[in-house]
Amino acid sequence: MRGSTPSWVLLILVTLLFRREVSAKIEGNPANEIMTVINSNRTSIKLPKLHDNAGLGCMALQYITECSANCTSNNTVTCRPPEIDITEVYAANCGVELPTVDTVPNHLITCSWNYLSPEEAFSKIYTSDKKAGSVFHSKENVEAGVGFNKAGRHGPYFWCILFSSGKGNSTFVLEGGKGIEQKSGCFSGGGLTCNSGFQGLVLEFLFVMAMIFSTTSLLLLV
Ligand SMILES: *[C@@H]1O[C@H](CO)[C@@H](O)[C@H](O)[C@H]1NC(C)=O
Ligand SMILES: *[C@@H]1O[C@H](CO)[C@@H](O)[C@H](O)[C@H]1NC(C)=O
Ligand SMILES: *[C@@H]1O[C@H](CO)[C@@H](O)[C@H](O)[C@H]1NC(C)=O
Ligand SMILES: *[C@@H]1O[C@H](CO)[C@@H](O)[C@H](O)[C@H]1NC(C)=O
Repeated sequence: MRGSTPSWVLLILVTLLFRREVSAKIEGNPANEIMTVINSNRTSIKLPKLHDNAGLGCMALQYITECSANCTSNNTVTCRPPEIDITEVYAANCGVELPTVDTVPNHLITCSWNYLSPEEAFSKIYTSDKKAGSVFHSKENVEAGVGFNKAGRHGPYFWCILFSSGKGNSTFVLEGGKGIEQKSGCFSGGGLTCNSGFQGLVLEFLFVMAMIFSTTSLLLLV
């Protein structure tokens, strides 16, 4: 008992530290921050801010799920899901109220095997997609939603933005205000932090294993 105490204490400490480190890397909600960057890019040229729509944000996260296997080693997204899936599949998977589904004329997506800050991610989209500048600065776009996720344990990271000309709060309304909970990643407009669903099952698993291991070794040695 006396000799074993430090090892399980150490194990728990290391696990907790690991959890802290991972969650510290992606604080808060990068999707919300990208929306802020987009809007300051717009207001600096006197364009109105885009309404941050959680329904669209969730659908952007769904788009990422569809593309999670399609990021090349040079950080290019190669997937082409059918356009119609955005409004017909992703909206339903998010719990968007059917009568409030509107059109999504524009979307932008990028990926990277390294984590990019919201400013860097915005800038990558802006510079790597020829149409991005005109989409970000379009007067027709009234609302948008940003999705962000890490597709595998070691990446890649994905950022996706959906745009619509719908009237702010009356389109892409999530059922009960929250819609259907998503397994991982985060999106703008929902008021949720990324960490909640983001730490990943692997870390939860490690943590639970560490707890079981330490409890078992404690019981065996008592
Ligand atoms: C990145 O990879 C894609 C597909 O593998 C290729 O089409 C594209 O030209 C590459 N881009 C750069 C900048 O190397
Ligand atoms: C992702 O890439 C694979 C292999 O290149 C391809 O078969 C698949 O259609 C792509 N997914 C989408 C949604 O485009
Ligand atoms: C908007 O952001 C892009 C990419 O960072 C930058 O090149 C451009 O100058 C910005 N436009 C304004 C008006 O700030
Ligand atoms: C929608 O937004 C408008 C203006 O921002 C506001 O007056 C209205 O009360 C909102 N409607 C709902 C249902 O939240």
